[in-house]
Amino acid sequence: MYDKSARFYDAIYGWKDYEDEVRRLLILVDAHRGAPPASLLDVACGTGKHLAFLRGRVAHLEGVELNGSMLAVARKRLPDIPLQRGDMIDFDLGRRFDVVTCLFSAIAYAGTVEGLQKAARSMARHLNPGGLLLIEPFISPDKWNDGQLHHLVVDQPDLKISRINLSRRQGQVAVLDMHYLVGTPEGVEHFIERHELTLFTPEEYRSALEAANLAVAFDEYGLDGRGMFVGRPAD
Ligand SMILES: C[S@@+](CC[C@H](N)C(=O)[O-])C[C@H]1O[C@@H](n2cnc3c(N)ncnc32)[C@H](O)[C@@H]1O
Repeated sequence: MYDKSARFYDAIYGWKDYEDEVRRLLILVDAHRGAPPASLLDVACGTGKHLAFLRGRVAHLEGVELNGSMLAVARKRLPDIPLQRGDMIDFDLGRRFDVVTCLFSAIAYAGTVEGLQKAARSMARHLNPGGLLLIEPFISPDKWNDGQLHHLVVDQPDLKISRINLSRRQGQVAVLDMHYLVGTPEGVEHFIERHELTLFTPEEYRSALEAANLAVAFDEYGLDGRGMFVGRPAD
């Protein structure tokens, strides 16, 4: 899914302010937990940019990521942080954390409501008592704009990217064929990556977390306006 674009991921999302998101994340954790976390696991950590800004602010950090190419970028960035290859649906590290995160709508790759429920269960079982699970949702079905054309441009001296896609919905799934035209001093290439992101409803997120035995709150803004589901083990 990110096999070909992983090496450009950080350039493509260069507009995203990970440092500010981490600042907001820690404020959110403090508000819901009342104490700074000593340990944090980032699920679907991608190239590890949230973890990079959490370094030095949370004593013990770990990451889980399914895609080998994304993991390779993260491992290069964070040689000191344990990063495992794993699927959010069924991973089991055998350790628990004060905070478990799943950010930038990565949860939408869970596929089905059953997948969402399994992912919530897998993440919840990695929480310490009094811990927090933070899941940043994807767009809900009622907010989805079908048929929109998107164009993203990267214009650096040695890297030119034009990424175009048309938003298409098939049932509850957004099927995004990302067309990449990438130029580097080595040459110009074109490739297409298909991303299938499920448009879960707020009720589906909430009930998946509740089924994982978590008490659920929703923060409207979250890190960048997408909102944030916050779950904590029910007493
Ligand atoms: C939009 S990126 C977000 C990455 C990172 N959290 C960030 O904020 O930059 C989604 C990530 O989810 C990963 N992913 C997709 N399905 C996954 C799964 N089933 N288990 C773990 N990671 C998954 C992808 O490989 C990708 O790295």
